[in-house]
Amino acid sequence: MRILLLSGPNLAMLGHRDPAVYGTRTLDDLVAIATEAARAHGAELVHVHHDGEGELVAAVHRVVTGATPADAVIINAGALTHYGLSLRDALELLEVPCIELHLSNTQAREPFRHASDIAGVCSGTIAGLGAHGYRLAIDAAVALAEE
Ligand code: DQA
Repeated sequence: MRILLLSGPNLAMLGHRDPAVYGTRTLDDLVAIATEAARAHGAELVHVHHDGEGELVAAVHRVVTGATPADAVIINAGALTHYGLSLRDALELLEVPCIELHLSNTQAREPFRHASDIAGVCSGTIAGLGAHGYRLAIDAAVALAEE
């Protein structure tokens, strides 16, 4: 089982971003948590980070074509969640489960964060649970991929 974790814009700045919203863990810390959770399921985690929408779209295309084999995708699309229509169209092509993930509770924040362009093409969403969400997303991805 191979799970692809995609991280979008500004997530490499975790540790510098508002700790009251995003916590103090860095992206490397979160990837380590997800990697360990995947290993506990006997799965492999592959992590890809891009700040640009085009690179994220290309990473999704590689899953669709099989160039990057993956049984499930987890994506924290950062702000592209709220305006990333080309990312949305790419995610729609996936034939494997896809989980939308956010550290913060986007529904409890500014109104522009309440809408998600990608939610409708993902299997489900985990938001507001901080680093726990990364562990839970792995559990969900493995369960959905096994169905
Ligand atoms: C985020 C929420 C987004 O609204 C924001 O733009 C981010 C991070 C989160 O993980 O809480 O960059 O996806």
